[in-house]
Amino acid sequence: MKRIFPSSFYNPVTLVGAAIAGVSFGLVLFLMVLEMMTDNPKPYMGIIAFVLLPSILLIGLSILVFGIFRARQREQAGKPEMRLPQIDLNNPRHRTAFIFFSFGTILLLLLSAFGSFKAYEHTDSDQFCGETCHKVMAPEYTAYQFSPHARVGCVKCHIGQGAGWFVRSKLSGAYQVYATLFNKYPRPIPTPIENLRPAQETCEQCHWPKHFFREKKIVNTYYTSDEKNTKWMLDLLIKIGGGNIEAGPTSGIHWHMNIGNEVTYAATDSQRQIIPWVQVKAADGKVVTYKSADNPLSDEDLQKAKKRRMDCIECHNRPAHIYHPPARSVNHIISLGWIDQELPSVKSIAVKALELPYSTKQAALDSIKLVIQEFYRTTHPEVMAKKSQQVERAIEEVQKIYSRNYFPEMQVSWRKFNDNIGHMYYPGCFRCHDGKHVSDDGKVLSRDCNVCHTILAQQFEKDKLRLSLGGVEYKHPVDIGDSWKEMNCSDCHNGR
Ligand code: HEC
Ligand code: HEC
Ligand code: HEC
Ligand code: HEC
Ligand code: HEC
Ligand code: HEC
Repeated sequence: MKRIFPSSFYNPVTLVGAAIAGVSFGLVLFLMVLEMMTDNPKPYMGIIAFVLLPSILLIGLSILVFGIFRARQREQAGKPEMRLPQIDLNNPRHRTAFIFFSFGTILLLLLSAFGSFKAYEHTDSDQFCGETCHKVMAPEYTAYQFSPHARVGCVKCHIGQGAGWFVRSKLSGAYQVYATLFNKYPRPIPTPIENLRPAQETCEQCHWPKHFFREKKIVNTYYTSDEKNTKWMLDLLIKIGGGNIEAGPTSGIHWHMNIGNEVTYAATDSQRQIIPWVQVKAADGKVVTYKSADNPLSDEDLQKAKKRRMDCIECHNRPAHIYHPPARSVNHIISLGWIDQELPSVKSIAVKALELPYSTKQAALDSIKLVIQEFYRTTHPEVMAKKSQQVERAIEEVQKIYSRNYFPEMQVSWRKFNDNIGHMYYPGCFRCHDGKHVSDDGKVLSRDCNVCHTILAQQFEKDKLRLSLGGVEYKHPVDIGDSWKEMNCSDCHNGR
């Protein structure tokens, strides 16, 4: 047989290396062709085609080179050259072996092509993101399944398309795999995510800013923490606004914040919750700077502070992983009738049971049952006698709320993750709109209750309905004087 390569190439080690390199090269080609042919390349296709397989190819090549070196050394040491088997196709035994071997190889290649295709499909799935690192991602995955984006894949927001972000997120991903394996990850996983892909390339692929123009009515139902669980309602018309300047007048939350204007701010904490400095550059180039009167920033600190341009994530920082405050979840479940409003003090005992400190989920579920049973047994024995079924149902619902919103093993709960939409439980909009951010010419970022939403109606259980299209004056459910007009709502409602 004529040999094209030097004799040191023909040794078993080198040939094994060459085979590994050859097969992985073939698979890379296969996946590249596949990627070119699909309109909608999957984000994880690249990790296999451009990261995993090439590393195997490199390993193959190193084995190959190692084999050559070893063979050279043997030659120099005068050891006999290792001989390869000779194949003679005229020999029937050789022929059969050759046919088996060739078909086997082709079959193996096809199967591994199919296998790697399936493997890549799996890494693209939400199960892979959410369940493979089961304990670490449990909070995000659970919250995601109950969010409006439950059918939007993790990779659509966290990676998106294109190689650049893919590589960036994979580089940090490699560290995460290490951190998970060696149990070094922080609990909870910290936010904000510094290298989250810009919203223009993720959110705006599905939500087109020009097309936000309506107002959205939300009706909230509440129950106060008294024995009767007094019900009250509040109708808000949220002025989402936005829109296309060519189509007429524009207004509202989205227009001011995003499309026409460039809003830049400086935060002094890593969570972006304390914002003493905000600057707006309007479409006509006019610049207005607002500074907090309460908490001014010296010029020197301002120089040092990191500035960010506002985008969707400044407000919608929890579109998929929403950990609800307990009062909100309990109100919702009572309004559905799943917890009986007639159970005395059920609102307050449910919230209390959710908020006690627990070390594991199982301990929490067991204690919630005990706490609620104990409460009715000692304070309302007649309820336990007559309504034990409703009490059991209430316990079940409170346990479900706990499972969806609290993850003691990862130290995750609503207290750890500020949601910047709104202003009741977290500073949110009032980080800037607190009525204390003033511009040089005296303009104030207003916290007037009808700037962002119109309070269309409010009604307490037996009172008459107060209703006005222009907005009714807000009435705080419990008498706290005028402090809701002066303090931030979250100063009292933050659960601390
Ligand atoms: C609709 C877009 C969207 C989807 C879909 C989505 N996420 Fe997120 N995710 C976000 C945003 C936005 C943040 C917070 C970014 C910030 O505050 O900097 C986040 C934060 C996280 C964090 C950091 C910890 C935390 O709770 O803030 C993890 C971990 C995470 N996501 C995992 C996942 C997993 C796993 C999936 C799929 C099961 C998923 N995400 C689906 C948008 C999304
Ligand atoms: C793959 C498409 C897709 C992407 C990417 C996406 N969304 Fe959505 N989003 C949806 C769909 C579909 C709905 C409607 C869900 C429904 O009405 O049940 C929705 C709903 C919403 C809502 C309304 C939620 C509510 O309570 O009614 C908000 C706010 C939102 N998305 C913000 C975001 C933000 C911020 C991002 C980027 C981090 C994002 N979306 C990324 C598809 C997407
Ligand atoms: C100044 C804060 C702010 C910014 C910035 C912002 N939004 Fe919103 N957005 C809101 C508020 C407030 C609502 C209404 C409350 C709600 O739906 O929970 C809303 C509602 C929405 C809705 C639901 C609309 C509906 O009709 O139900 C979508 C979708 C949305 N935003 C997407 C985006 C996207 C995409 C961006 C970035 C281009 C963005 N938002 C930037 C505050 C903001
Ligand atoms: C980083 C600071 C900042 C945050 C956070 C912020 N805003 Fe603003 N907002 C501004 C600035 C600056 C303006 C422009 C004021 C001006 O006209 O010069 C503005 C204007 C507005 C306007 C228009 C007011 C008017 O006079 O017509 C609305 C509505 C609004 N914001 C709603 C919201 C809502 C809702 C949130 C929370 C989801 C929010 N903003 C969060 C800084 C902020
Ligand atoms: C800067 C804009 C802005 C201002 C000013 C503002 N709000 Fe709001 N408010 C919001 C947004 C945004 C939401 C959240 C809507 C949602 O749930 O999607 C909200 C929600 C609420 C809720 C429902 C809270 C909940 O989660 O149950 C109440 C109550 C409320 N606002 C009262 C007020 C009162 C009272 C004032 C005046 C002191 C006021 N708001 C001023 C933007 C604003
Ligand atoms: C001085 C403290 C304080 C401030 C400031 C405050 N609240 Fe309250 N708020 C309370 C107390 C106490 C309750 C009663 C809680 C209960 O009955 O469970 C309450 C109850 C509520 C409820 C009903 C909650 C539920 O779970 O059913 C809403 C809604 C509310 N407040 C809105 C606001 C808004 C909006 C602001 C800001 C404009 C605000 N509050 C400011 C102390 C405060």
